[in-house]
Amino acid sequence: MSKQIWLTGITTSGTPHLGNYVGAIRPAVEASRDRGRDGFYFLADYHALIKNHDPERLRSSRREIAASWLALGLDAEHVTFYRQSDIPQIPELTWMLTCLTAKGLMNRAHAYKGLVQANLEGGEERDPDQGITMGLFSYPILMAADILMFNATHVPVGRDQIQHLEMTRDVGQRFNHVYGPHFTLPEAVVAEDVAVLSGLDGRKMSKSYDNTVPLFESSKRLRKSIMRIVTNSQEPGEPKDPQGNTVFELHQAFATAEQSAQLRADYADGIGWGDAKQRLFECVEAVLAEPRERYEALMANPADIDAVLADGAARARAISAPFMERLREATGIGRAAP
Ligand code: TRP
Repeated sequence: MSKQIWLTGITTSGTPHLGNYVGAIRPAVEASRDRGRDGFYFLADYHALIKNHDPERLRSSRREIAASWLALGLDAEHVTFYRQSDIPQIPELTWMLTCLTAKGLMNRAHAYKGLVQANLEGGEERDPDQGITMGLFSYPILMAADILMFNATHVPVGRDQIQHLEMTRDVGQRFNHVYGPHFTLPEAVVAEDVAVLSGLDGRKMSKSYDNTVPLFESSKRLRKSIMRIVTNSQEPGEPKDPQGNTVFELHQAFATAEQSAQLRADYADGIGWGDAKQRLFECVEAVLAEPRERYEALMANPADIDAVLADGAARARAISAPFMERLREATGIGRAAP
C-alpha cells in the first residue's frame, strides 16, 4: 500500500483560542510527528479572503496562526507547512474544477444554504443571495483544489466540513471520469474523542459567541480570563458537581489524569470556585508557558516564520508544478505530450 497522505487546511481568520488548541491544533501537531505518513499543513489564506477584506488583519491573522502552530511544536521539517497563496497551481486547479462542477451541487452546500435561508427569513423584500459573494459560493471548489492538488488520502476535519469532503470526492471523480484517473479520492477523518471546549459563558467556545480565551495572551491576562468564567452561586464548602462544569471541563482538557482526579475529589470536598479557577489557571499555564515564549520569539521575528513557510511552499510547488503540467495536458490547455 502506498503511503498515506494527510492534509489539513487552517483558515487564517481570528486569533487562536483554547478551543482551537484542544480541538484542532493539539491533535494535528501530534499527528505531524507520525513518521508513517506524509503531512501537508497549510494556511488557507485564500479562504480567509472570502470574509476578511482588511489587508492588515489578514496578514496579522496569518502570522499569528503560523506562529502558534510552530510554537506548539508542528514538525515543519517532516511535514510540508505552507501558505495556500504561495501555490499558484491551486487557483489554477480551482478554475479547472469549477468548469466541471454542477452549480446545483454548490447550491446544496450547508453554509451557502444557511445564508440563503437567513435572507429568506429576513424579510420578503430581500434578495435570497444578498451579501453572498461568488467566493463564498465557490468555497467548496477551492477546498477541493487544496486537497486534490496533493492527492491527499486522509483529511482531518470537523463535522461541519464533511459535506465539503463529499463534494471534493464528487468533483474529483468527475474530473477522473472526463480526463482520466489523475486524482486520489480523499476520505474525511472526523475525530470522535476530541473535546469541544466550553467558553467563558458556558456555551461552546467560539469566536462567534465572543466567549473565547486566547491561546497566547500574557499569563496575567490568561488568569484574568479564567477568573471571568461564569459559575453558579454555590459557596465554598458546598460539594460541587464536576459534570458539565466549565471550569472542570477546561481543566480536564489540560490536566494529567491524576490532576483531574484530584480536582474531582476537591469538588466533592467543596473547593470554592475561586480556588478551582486558580487550579485551572496553573494547569493551563504549565502547558502554555513554554510555547508562549516560542510564540513571542517568532512574533518578534516574522522573518523566521516566513522562512519556514517559504521552504514549505518550495517543497509543495515541487509537487504541484509538475502535476499541474500533467493536468494542463490532460485538459487540452497544455500542449499534447510529444
Ligand atoms: N474549510 C476548512 C475549515 O474551515 C479549512 C480548509 C480549507 C481545509 N481548505 C482545506 C481543511 C482543505 C481541510 C482541507 O476548517
